Amino acid sequence: MSKQQSVWVSRPLFPEVLASLAQYVDVRVETREARRTPEQLRTKLVKVDGAIIGLGDRIDASVVAGNRRLKAIANLAVGYNNLDLEALTAAGIQATNTPDVLTQTTADYAWALLLAAARRVSSAERWLRAGRWRGGMRFDDWLGVDLYGKTLGILGMGRIGQAVARRASGFDMPVIYHNRSRLPEAVERECRARWVDKAQLLQHADHLVLVVPYTAQTHHAIGAAELAQMKRTAVLVNIARGGIVDDAALAVALREGRLAAAGLDVFEGEPALHPALRELESAVLSPHIASASADTRRAMAQLAADNLLAALGHGPDAGRPPS
Ligand code: DGY
Repeated sequence: MSKQQSVWVSRPLFPEVLASLAQYVDVRVETREARRTPEQLRTKLVKVDGAIIGLGDRIDASVVAGNRRLKAIANLAVGYNNLDLEALTAAGIQATNTPDVLTQTTADYAWALLLAAARRVSSAERWLRAGRWRGGMRFDDWLGVDLYGKTLGILGMGRIGQAVARRASGFDMPVIYHNRSRLPEAVERECRARWVDKAQLLQHADHLVLVVPYTAQTHHAIGAAELAQMKRTAVLVNIARGGIVDDAALAVALREGRLAAAGLDVFEGEPALHPALRELESAVLSPHIASASADTRRAMAQLAADNLLAALGHGPDAGRPPS
């Protein structure tokens, strides 16, 4: 049976997810993930009714200008700072994201980075693999900082921030948070979290996890001035977006010992790394993999496919707007 609609998938996806799409629409899948120029994206999108894309695909007004066919774009992420929503709305293109399904996995990863950075796991492993453990290690070598009983700070208290907070009780860590709006009291109680202003958060948190969306307002929310207010023994974790932290200022703070360590899953200008961060043993670095468990990535892909099909008229609801 010939299918009337076509969709473009900008990277390889799970075969079962592609098969679920292919029941309704003609599917064109790229065999590898690649950085594409606006012109390349334009050329791909002009020939299809819908697309599944990832964070590396930046869709702005120039990409969709004059495209009368494209009806929907499903983003393979909860964050959607790669999409110009105003331009998409003006062009009559629906955008969807993948909330909820990645919340717990991403919160787990914030803790993975917090623990690894606090206890110097990556740097100890590099040292061990380099064959440098020859016995006679000093008792005061490899000293990290504790998490247990310390105050955890969270900047951004949406779904993922709350999931990070809930995990803190296992470490007996009181939680303070800053968010544009305060959570309802019942949620604060359940997360055992207390709202503070941003200055108090920076000054009182023993360790700080960033979970805010990237917007013009959160660009460099943690820069030199903010880092200067943090404790020297603090660990900073960024699982949100590059650009929320001024990576150059962070590298200076780490080099000068004004911060104990950092765990970073996202970077300004990723996939490029600030060269100074690459050199720092106190920075644990990973390539934007906070949501990357097999179950969660499959669930994200299926949700994106379901959202796209719904937006193209093959599901029970119209596709969901980003939430
Ligand atoms: C998201 O979904 O926004 C994450 O950054 C992807 O892992």
